[in-house]
Amino acid sequence: MATSTAQGAAAAATLSKGLDGILAGETAICNIQNDELIYRGYEVHDLVDHACFEDVAHVLLVGHKPSAAESAAFKAELVRERAVPAEVIEVVQRAARASHPMDCLRTGVSLLSHHDPDTADNSPAANLRKAKRLLAKIPTLIAAGTNARHGRGLPQPDASLGHAANLLWMLTGKKHGERAVKVFDVSLILYAEHEFNASTFTARIISSTLSDLHSAVCGGIGALKGPLHGGANEAAMAMLQEVGTFDNIRSFMDKAFATKRKIMGFGHRVYKRGDTRAGVLRKYGMEYAGNEKPEFNEWWRIADAVAKIMLDEKKIHPNVDFPCGVTYWSLGLDVPDFTPIFVASRITGWSAHIMEQMADNRLIRPLSNYVGPAKRPW
Ligand code: CMC
Repeated sequence: MATSTAQGAAAAATLSKGLDGILAGETAICNIQNDELIYRGYEVHDLVDHACFEDVAHVLLVGHKPSAAESAAFKAELVRERAVPAEVIEVVQRAARASHPMDCLRTGVSLLSHHDPDTADNSPAANLRKAKRLLAKIPTLIAAGTNARHGRGLPQPDASLGHAANLLWMLTGKKHGERAVKVFDVSLILYAEHEFNASTFTARIISSTLSDLHSAVCGGIGALKGPLHGGANEAAMAMLQEVGTFDNIRSFMDKAFATKRKIMGFGHRVYKRGDTRAGVLRKYGMEYAGNEKPEFNEWWRIADAVAKIMLDEKKIHPNVDFPCGVTYWSLGLDVPDFTPIFVASRITGWSAHIMEQMADNRLIRPLSNYVGPAKRPW
């Protein structure tokens, strides 16, 4: 039997693999209750129907719903901060030839820390300035990689466009219509914040050591990349492409079940009766395809059939990453850019949590239950 330290025994008493069901802190930023997702008191259905992404970002970062003047000033500040130093762009463009876009983005954010005058300043005001700069610059970083991959130059940010429309423009080199911009904006609102998910918790752990915002965001990007977290949106689309046709669904699913393969974009640690975001994005994504991209209706039919089998046979619901796949694909976006786009939104939630952690900090340092060999002589 393995020996156990006093600390190990204490940890064993509350051991929960994956910290499932453990309360690890307090937050005033986001609440998931009765299957509703609420950002600082505002429910996401209300937000997607009535707010734009920048105003939601203001709610998360600054802490309150902006007045008309605050909203205009916040948007103008983001537009002013979109440019990224040429040296950073060059490194990201070179990396993009061989590396995954999430790796390029992580490197780009890390490099930006060398150019930010506030990097070492952890005061609330400096953290807010850094958060806004990253929010503004991340679309430019993602677009630098995407366009390099396609052998294209980087389009200049368009000051007349909001966050969603500008990101679409910079990624695709096309000006999108109102419906496309709306569905993309909705996806960014839905992705903005989700309490103590793995990437946010990573960012909070890093912040709790009194490191700095850029380091915490780099850690968040690393955590989000995994297919069990944000990487699921691209994995879900790649899986649907593998299914390929409606007629292939049954045999694909049978094989997946027989081999215990995880169906990407399904299941959730917190929502067991369905991810409230999934239904919203499915509705907006399907409406967009129905109105403007009928060639994607068939992909929605395939997606719905996969979801029905998962529910009927496994009792597992889709999460937000499942409808995100078809939605982003129908917008003409590259599958490997799906998770970086998630970052372009979640940077708001991460930054809000980093600031909240630092405002009332205690080092996050849990215990482990030792299960290794008993003490022995060398
Ligand atoms: N496909 C097939 N089976 C699944 C799936 C799935 N997507 N999700 C859960 N299960 C099964 C799982 O195999 C397990 O079965 P059993 O009890 O027989 O071993 C049971 O359901 C419970 O699952 P779990 O893995 O213990 O649940 P968890 O809370 O640890 O994991 C999860 C949650 C999201 C990691 C998991 O559902 C999963 O791997 N999903 C696929 C990846 C994915 O879509 N991730 C996105 C998460 S939400 C949005 C985001 O963060 O981006």
